[in-house]
Amino acid sequence: MTDTDSKPLKVLLVDDEPNILMAYQRLLRMELFETVYTTSPDEAFELLKFNQFAVVVSDQRMPQMLGSLFLEKAREISPKTVRIMLTGYSDMQAAMDAINRGSVYRYLTKPWRDDEFKLTIRQALTQYRMGEERTKAHELIKKQNSELQELSKHLERKVFERTQEISALLLQLEQSLLGTVQVLAGIMDIHDESVGSHCRRVAALSRELGIELGVTGRDLLELQIAAKLHDLGKVGIPLDILRKPETERTPEELEQVAAHVIRGAATLRGVPNIGHVPVYVRHHHENLDGTGFPDRLTEKQIPLNSKIIAVANAFDHELNIQTIYQNTTSLKALGEVKKASGTRFDPKVVKALSKCIYERIKDKGEEIELCMKNLKAGMTISREIRTAQGILLFPKDTFIDERHLEQLRSFLELDPFADIVYVYKVRAAARAS
Ligand SMILES: [Fe+2]
Repeated sequence: MTDTDSKPLKVLLVDDEPNILMAYQRLLRMELFETVYTTSPDEAFELLKFNQFAVVVSDQRMPQMLGSLFLEKAREISPKTVRIMLTGYSDMQAAMDAINRGSVYRYLTKPWRDDEFKLTIRQALTQYRMGEERTKAHELIKKQNSELQELSKHLERKVFERTQEISALLLQLEQSLLGTVQVLAGIMDIHDESVGSHCRRVAALSRELGIELGVTGRDLLELQIAAKLHDLGKVGIPLDILRKPETERTPEELEQVAAHVIRGAATLRGVPNIGHVPVYVRHHHENLDGTGFPDRLTEKQIPLNSKIIAVANAFDHELNIQTIYQNTTSLKALGEVKKASGTRFDPKVVKALSKCIYERIKDKGEEIELCMKNLKAGMTISREIRTAQGILLFPKDTFIDERHLEQLRSFLELDPFADIVYVYKVRAAARAS
């Protein structure tokens, strides 16, 4: 009988009578386990301290020490060793007590029957082996758990590091994209300041319309970039052609101006991480009924963001550019846009424009429009301020202090699209006085 290391298991037998020990020896000599015999409980303690015994068998009646006490101490020294008590009929109560206290696995009565004695020892050895297996399994599970925990910590750390790297990379990409957009917007300004300022207003209005229509996140950012650069393709067209009323342009000049959507989109396609912006720019002159350019797309073929830019563009042209409407108002400009709802423009975008314009008119008596850089501490904003991706920075009615301005300055470095803010006229004046 062996343990998993192929060493024979050991059985310690303790009895004060040498004759009994010799009888054990005779009885057990053919067994596969190793036997150790002693007449002294003290020697048995020493043996238990320095050897791993699978089983210990002790007589109850020994002059040096009662077997029950010996086995109690043996349990303290070697808890895993399975304990068997040998007792006469007169000591049955002591054996029962020992079993009840858990200090003894079995008891055998004297005189013993050989086969019963051997069977009990074998069962005790099985009991020991099962205990050992349980301990090993428990240790293995503990080790595997700790390895798993370590692996999981390692993975968490790796995921965290990768997420950090990706976030930093994305931020870098976004900043580089916004930087490029600013450069291109600057080129438009240099070429024709009126085109640049028109594009800024169209970007601000497109953002309002986009939010109203549920455009969010990256789509909202791309909408604003496309709106801000929608006329990029006009760079290079001579100013006298651009400033000439459409009715006075020659067919070649009309063609040259109309091609700005294709040139703008083609230029933007070379910008890394630009997303769908070139598509939005290419289609900002498409009409719902298919009469637009350059691809004569209809209704569902036109991206929503292009439809939004088309409406914002037309409204701004009506309000700010067409000299014929010099004395126009927001409502008149809105009326002109509405005339083309369902033919040139998507009715739901026109409806969103109408809502935005009426809200502006409602507040007009008491609010003024400012460039973000002219916002001062002491003013109260009459509309909320959101990031390019629609995240709310400051709600309506926020009283602006130096801390807010500082936050806005850092925000503008990352997100230069929020050029226009609205503040209460009366409150701004009251604060200023
Ligand atoms: Fe355009």
